[in-house]
Amino acid sequence: MYNPYQLDHSKPTHKDYIDTTDFDQSEMLDMIKLSTTVRDYIKSGKTLSTLYHKNLAMIFEQKSTRTRVSFEVAMEQLGGHALNLAPGSIQLGAHETIGDTAQVLARMCDLIMARVNHHESVLELAARSSVPVINGMSDWNHPTQELGDIITIFDHLPEGKPLDKVKVVFVGDCTQVCGSLMMITSKMGMEFVQYAPPAKWLSDEYLKIGRANNQRYGGSVHVSDNPAVLEGADFIYTDVWYGLYDKETPKEVYMREFYPKYQVNAEMLAATGNEHVKFMHCLPANRGEEVTDDVLDGPHSIAWDQAENRLTAQRGLVLYFGGVAEETLDEIKKQKED
Ligand code: CP
Repeated sequence: MYNPYQLDHSKPTHKDYIDTTDFDQSEMLDMIKLSTTVRDYIKSGKTLSTLYHKNLAMIFEQKSTRTRVSFEVAMEQLGGHALNLAPGSIQLGAHETIGDTAQVLARMCDLIMARVNHHESVLELAARSSVPVINGMSDWNHPTQELGDIITIFDHLPEGKPLDKVKVVFVGDCTQVCGSLMMITSKMGMEFVQYAPPAKWLSDEYLKIGRANNQRYGGSVHVSDNPAVLEGADFIYTDVWYGLYDKETPKEVYMREFYPKYQVNAEMLAATGNEHVKFMHCLPANRGEEVTDDVLDGPHSIAWDQAENRLTAQRGLVLYFGGVAEETLDEIKKQKED
C-alpha cells in the first residue's frame, strides 16, 4: 500500500547526484515521493527545519535563474543556508583547481551543487569532495531539471492512461535537457520521441541508456524527423535551439535547421490530435523561435508549474542527499498526527 512517509531506500546508493543513470526506478520514485510530500506539507503553511545549520555551496560556471533561486529558497525553507558562488567570485579556475576547491568546500559545507561547463568538472568535484555533490547541469545532462520535469509530468498525467502509453515528444536540438528527459521518461517506462532533423538526433551514447531502460522498465525511445510522430503526444517539450553550450555556431545556422518546421506553435499542438496535450519548456525561452507566445502563455502550457517544480525537486534532493529524508518524513507524519 502507498505510504507517503516511507521510502524504499533509507539511503541513496550513491553519495552524489550526478546522473540519474546511477539510480534505479524505485530510488527515483523515492525522490519524487519525498519531494512531493514535502511540497504538500510546506504548501499547507507548515514549516520544517531538518536542515538546520546545514550549508549548501553553489558553484556556478554559468548564469542561472531557476537553479540558483530554487536551491537557495529550498535551503532557507528547510532551515539551512545556501552560498551563491557566482562565476568569478571564487578562486576556482583562476588560482585553484576544482579538486582543491572541492576539498575546501567539503570542510566547511554539508552539500555542494555545481553548474559546470564540462561534465568532467562535476565528476572531479564529486571525486575529491567528502560531502555529496549535486550536478546543477553540465554539457551532458541536467538531472535536477529531470526530477522537476518528471514530477510535473506526474502532476499532469492523462487520467487512467498507463505509463507505457504516455507519449512525451521532445521537439528540437539534442541538448542535455533533451538527453535528460529521455533518460527519466524511459526510466519510468514511458514512450519518448525526439522530433528533430537527423543531424540533431540524440547520439548513440544517450540512446543506449534509453534502450537499456526500455528493456528493464518497458516503454520506448525513438528519434524522427517525420511530423507523424507528433500524433497522440500527451506532452510536447522544447528547449532553445542555440547558444547553450555551442557558442561557436551562429544563430542563423540553427534557425535554418529548425525554423519553421520545429517551432512549437498552435499548428503543431493541433497536429498531436490531442486536445489535452501539455506544453513544457525548461526555460529560459527564446519566444518567437522554438515556441510562440500563444503556446507558452496559453492553456496547454504547464511551463510555469514546471518552473515551480524546480523548487519541489531541489527540496527533495537536498533532504535526500543531505541524509535526512527519513527524519523529515517522520517529522511530517508526527506533526500531521498531532
Ligand atoms: N532551466 C534552467 O536550468 O534554468 P536556469 O538556467 O535559469 O537555472
